[in-house]
Amino acid sequence: MAEITVQGLKKYFGDFAAVHDSSFRVHDGEFFVMLGPSGCGKTTTLRMIAGLELPSEGRILLDGEDVTWLRAARRDIAFVFQLFALYPHMNVRRNISFPLRMEHVKRAEIRRRVDEVADLLRIGHLLDKPVGGLSSGDRQRVALGRAIIRRAKAFLFDEPLGALDAEFRDLMREELRQLHDRIGATSVYVTHDQIEAMSMADRICVMERGKVLQVGTPMDIYNRPKTRFVAGFIGSPSMNFLPAGGGLPKGAEEIRVNGARLKMPRLREPLDAPEAEIGIRPEHIRLAQDGPLRGRVFAVEYTGASQLVTVDTPAGRLKVRAGNTQRIDEDETVGLTPDPRRIVVFDPRDERALDSGLFGEDGHE
Ligand SMILES: Nc1ncnc2c1ncn2[C@@H]1O[C@H](COP(=O)(O)OP(=O)(O)OP(=O)(O)O)[C@@H](O)[C@H]1O
Ligand SMILES: [Mg+2]
Repeated sequence: MAEITVQGLKKYFGDFAAVHDSSFRVHDGEFFVMLGPSGCGKTTTLRMIAGLELPSEGRILLDGEDVTWLRAARRDIAFVFQLFALYPHMNVRRNISFPLRMEHVKRAEIRRRVDEVADLLRIGHLLDKPVGGLSSGDRQRVALGRAIIRRAKAFLFDEPLGALDAEFRDLMREELRQLHDRIGATSVYVTHDQIEAMSMADRICVMERGKVLQVGTPMDIYNRPKTRFVAGFIGSPSMNFLPAGGGLPKGAEEIRVNGARLKMPRLREPLDAPEAEIGIRPEHIRLAQDGPLRGRVFAVEYTGASQLVTVDTPAGRLKVRAGNTQRIDEDETVGLTPDPRRIVVFDPRDERALDSGLFGEDGHE
């Protein structure tokens, strides 16, 4: 299949840099997700990989071959968007075969390839049916069939599930990921939905304002964010951030937060900035009567599996995920204890996270 290498890719629209010096490698057979907020350059990057847009600088290699200046049609990469829009006046077979008919492939070949794809998606019995009467799951399979019939080296998906309702989107995520595994294709999948990225990806590439901030497995990105932006973007509700005291020597194991001393992972490098910032996820804070951070409960949301508690402390407002049977009342005063192993320290000057060394490359402890 295909390995995609992006080297120092830049794209300017006039003076504006939509993509800033992006470099990453998508492994053969990988499900690679590009994640980031609206306008961060995801679509622009994907279009350059597909050959629909020329880079201002940088190179794109497909299986080691430089394809930067190759026309889209000669790259053997399928660009899939609006996955779910079927042609209502065509039956299933004609919907699936549409891309091949556009390329004037011979009829016998089309027939063979449609049967093959229908087999793969287990919709052979539907081929002569109109798409109008199909269940939503079957409609999706037809749409997927149309996307993969070109048998490209790699598939690029640009927010293909964006327009679907939540329940259906879950179903499609699974279906799409399974299909990817069955055909062993290389897929690059763009989304701004971090849950979608976490649940589908082998690796995630997090982008912000045209820059690649981090590439890693979902576990790596979650447990070892390299910047404050990545830490805050991944996870729902978001990681809490609190101002802290800086000027810390190498080997320090405590950090000052609003008068309290919190235990943290031993610093592997000094932090010579006068101030620091810490990050702690809601599920890594214990809520009890006592604790180093005191606060008042502002709100309690019961979600069934847990309770999401908003606590106002002198250092700022925090979200805490508490057990689902713990008694917590609004307005009561509580104590919060962050799990020392889970405190992330940021250098406020460049928003870089200091690596605690507690998690390996793949995010496991
Ligand atoms: N043809 C163009 N001319 C000028 N500016 C453009 C053009 N295409 C994209 N941009 C700008 O480049 C930036 C990146 O756009 P891009 O579409 O790649 O973002 P995106 O990450 O896909 O966002 P979204 O999640 O909204 O789809 C945006 O600020 C956008 O306005
Ligand atoms: Mg886009």
